[in-house]
Amino acid sequence: MRDDKKIRARSEAATSRLPGFQDLSCDERLRRVARMFALTPGEVRSLRGDVALEAETVDRMIENAIGTFRLPFGLGLNLVVNGRDYVVPMAVEEPSVVAALSLASKIVREAGGFTADADPPTMIGQIQVTRYGDPAAATERILAGKATILARADAMHPGLVRRGGGATDLIVRTLPAPEGAHGEPVLVVHLLIDTQEAMGANIVNTAVEGVAPLIEELTGGVVYLRILSNLADRRLARASCRIPVSALADFGWSGERIAEGIVQASRFASVDAYRAATHNKGIMNGIDAVAIATGQDWRALEAGAHAFACRDGRYQPLSTWALAGGDLIGRIALPIALGTVGGPIRVHPGVHAALKLLRVGSARELATVFASVGLAQNFAAIRALGSVGIQKGHMALHARCVAPATSAQRRKIRRVR
Ligand code: MEV
Repeated sequence: MRDDKKIRARSEAATSRLPGFQDLSCDERLRRVARMFALTPGEVRSLRGDVALEAETVDRMIENAIGTFRLPFGLGLNLVVNGRDYVVPMAVEEPSVVAALSLASKIVREAGGFTADADPPTMIGQIQVTRYGDPAAATERILAGKATILARADAMHPGLVRRGGGATDLIVRTLPAPEGAHGEPVLVVHLLIDTQEAMGANIVNTAVEGVAPLIEELTGGVVYLRILSNLADRRLARASCRIPVSALADFGWSGERIAEGIVQASRFASVDAYRAATHNKGIMNGIDAVAIATGQDWRALEAGAHAFACRDGRYQPLSTWALAGGDLIGRIALPIALGTVGGPIRVHPGVHAALKLLRVGSARELATVFASVGLAQNFAAIRALGSVGIQKGHMALHARCVAPATSAQRRKIRRVR
């Protein structure tokens, strides 16, 4: 216990500002991080990738397993969210993603960091009801049975309820039948569940399957699909930052010119789905990398992000950038369904160590980091795109970061830059 306290006290002092980190070798970086975060030898081995998942575990996780698959694992630096420093673990194969996060976070940190918040962890489970007769009457019967339905959902997860979570509400939606199809409107029950520290897919799926017979009883109808919705729009995370225009000057360009390029990129994405898709891909470059490193279901995050981007019937950028009072202001909002327990978090040694580096106290806090990472990644991309272009701006960043570490080689690379 005393050891735990010491470790926490030491790691509280950890900063994500590590000048010269990129100039170290891979091993030196790991040793530095191990000292900073008081990592155990086992955690160091798992971050280095020496500890693979046991064949037995892999075999239990998926079917026809023949081994494991590795990705580069790096650390995004300089991130400050709500006044706290975060070293961001990222598993990703694409050059410049880690460097872009570190660069953007450095600029934002000097301007005060990101401000972010996240909704309570409410997930939506969907139950499709058919052959229910009159939609209004069926809706009324379901709503009249709401307390019983929520109680039955809770009975399936007593542990979750003890931890303060559980079914919180129920909504009935009546949707027009698909175009050209005859028949009844599509009737869907949304069961809302506070999943606490879990992403919640298993919790929700068990609950919706569990309450389906009761809904059939109440409506006299037939239930077909019972499954979580990945459009987790009750579980949004938001982040924003405010950067003085003067702090944006780079590439021999003035801050005003760079800011104008960023605002133009935002305008472009807001009216064109072709551009918005790429804009959002840039955001997800960062979010997916942290998601993979921390054992999240990144397909669920992707599905949620893109469905949310289309929520008004038109595909839109998840972030916007505007000028106000001499500052550039960036904002992002998107569903972030993640967990700090369950899934690979339990079994994957690298994920366990990655979460230790992040030092988050809750899934909600982790969601604020994800949203900030997304906004930072987007900032880095459109800052380069709106000025010198991605090849020069972004890819040079990569070249700089993977520069061989001898001083002669570094001098040569500086000349190339
Ligand atoms: C490349 O992986 C991501 C970018 O295309 C994002 C963007 O265009 O905003 C650079």
